[in-house]
Order: sequence, then structure tokens, then C-alpha cells
Amino acid sequence: MDLTASHALVTGANQGIGLGFVEVLLGRGIAKVYAAARNPATLEDLVGLDPARVVGLELDITSAEQRLAAARRAPDVDLLINNAGIAGSGRGEERRFLAASNMDDARLVMETDFWAPAEMCRLFVPPMVSRGRGQVINIVSIGALFCTPEYATYSAAKAAFGMMTQGLRIELNGSGVGVAGVFTGGVATRMSANNPNTLVSPEAHANEVLDAVAAGEVDIFAGARAGELRDAVRADPMAFEAQLTERFNTNRLE
Ligand SMILES: NC(=O)c1ccc[n+]([C@@H]2O[C@H](COP(=O)([O-])OP(=O)(O)OC[C@H]3O[C@@H](n4cnc5c(N)ncnc54)[C@H](OP(=O)(O)O)[C@@H]3O)[C@@H](O)[C@H]2O)c1
Repeated sequence: MDLTASHALVTGANQGIGLGFVEVLLGRGIAKVYAAARNPATLEDLVGLDPARVVGLELDITSAEQRLAAARRAPDVDLLINNAGIAGSGRGEERRFLAASNMDDARLVMETDFWAPAEMCRLFVPPMVSRGRGQVINIVSIGALFCTPEYATYSAAKAAFGMMTQGLRIELNGSGVGVAGVFTGGVATRMSANNPNTLVSPEAHANEVLDAVAAGEVDIFAGARAGELRDAVRADPMAFEAQLTERFNTNRLE
């Protein structure tokens, strides 16, 4: 798509991967970008970078009211980047299915990482279909391909998000609206603060994703080790699960 004629909306734009997308889109000449965040005060510097092209939007993606208000304020979006997400509770037990004290945290993860972006698509995609053009980029995770045992509820939500992405793509076939799922690997952000591996920067990740979309890819494996992990799971799923089980038994990360 021609970015110089495009209007993007990025959720969770105030930091990490979302902020990287906004900066890279500006560098690539995007006409307008709606930078959405649940706390608009965190967007002041970003809007200040280029007030003519960056529009700050208050948007907690789990709020139906705020999603509707955002859709009213941004009726011209033709590039939707569903990026905002959470990994789950700071307490390891709450991110598991049996050890958790209840399912409240799992429900919040599912609400944020699956239902909210699904509802965002339901609001922002129909106008794109009416115009006969547009692009959705869903930031899923490589952790959607297997259950990361330390973040089991996150993997479950991201797997659902990945399936939703494929379903949406099939539903939109022939509409002129493209749908890409990004199975992101390691990117240096707040969320990956405990990841000991070498990570790529949010800007490098955004460039990789936008280049892949421009090349027509729909399943995108961007960020550190994404392709390597995909290949290992696909080559021998049970051997991969055995490694995850061993890591879980050894570390029991909290
Ligand atoms: N970093 C990685 O290695 C990695 C790997 C795979 C996938 N991902 C995915 O990449 C996406 C971005 O993560 P990140 O690494 O950039 O993490 P991050 O630095 O923690 O940023 C997460 C962003 O999502 C926002 N957010 C969370 N809940 C929200 C809500 N209810 N409404 C609106 N915004 C909300 C946060 O806003 P606040 O600032 O207000 O908290 C923040 O802007 C996530 O979907 C994550 O699952 C990341």
C-alpha cells in the first residue's frame, strides 16, 4: 500500500513495539497516524514529533465505549495495527490454569489479547471494505504456536488471536482488505524485560513487518528467533513440547 496516502491507527502506541511502528511509519512518509494509548499523557512527546501527522487518541482497547469513540474520531483509517497486549499477572501462578487462584487474570489476558482486537477489527474493517482497500496487521506472537509454560494463559489468548486473524483473512478474501498476522519473536521492550536472549529493536521489528506486508506476506515471523522457533515446532512438535516441559520443571519461574 502507498503509505504516503494512508491513515494508520496503532494501538499501544506509547511505548515498545507500538511506538516503534509509529516512528517507522512517520519515517516512511505515512500521511497520518492515530497513536492510541490508554493514558493520553504518555503520547505528548510522540505527538510533538510531528503534530501535523500524529493524532493522539485515548483508547483502552478493552473499553467498548472508548473503542466506539475512537472509531468516530478516526473514520478514515486504512491501516489498522492491533498491537496493544499484555502478558498476564506478575505472579507466575496466576498465568497457569490450575495453580491460579481463580481465572480472573486469564480472563483479562483473553479480553485484552483476543476479544479487544477482534472488536477493533469489527469496528474499523467495514469502512475499509466499503472503500475497497485497507490493511490489518495483527501483532500476535511466536508464543501462539506452542504453549509457553511460564505464560500459559498468554499463549492460549494469542493462539485464539492467530486463528481469528486467519479467519478474518478468509472472510475478507476478494474485498481489497489485506490481513497479516505477525508471529513476533523477541523484541526489546518492557514486556520482554526478563527475556535473556538477544532481542531486536522495536524499529527493526516494524521495518521487518512493513517490508513483509509490502512483499505480500500474510504470516510474518519477525523479531529475534521467530523463524527458528517456528521451524523447530513444525519439525517435531512433541520433541519441542518435551523441551518446554523440561524447562518448566527445572525453573518453575514465578
Ligand atoms: N516484546 C516481545 O518480545 C513480544 C514478543 C511477541 C509478541 N509481542 C506482542 O507485541 C505487542 C506489544 O508488546 P510490547 O513488547 O511492546 O510490550 P509493552 O512494552 O509492554 O507494551 C504494551 C503496550 O500495550 C498497551 N496496552 C496494554 N493493555 C492495553 C489496553 N487495555 N488498552 C490499550 N493499550 C494497552 C500498553 O499500554 P500502557 O503503557 O498503558 O501499559 C503498551 O503501550 C503485544 O501484543 C505483545 O504480546 C511482544
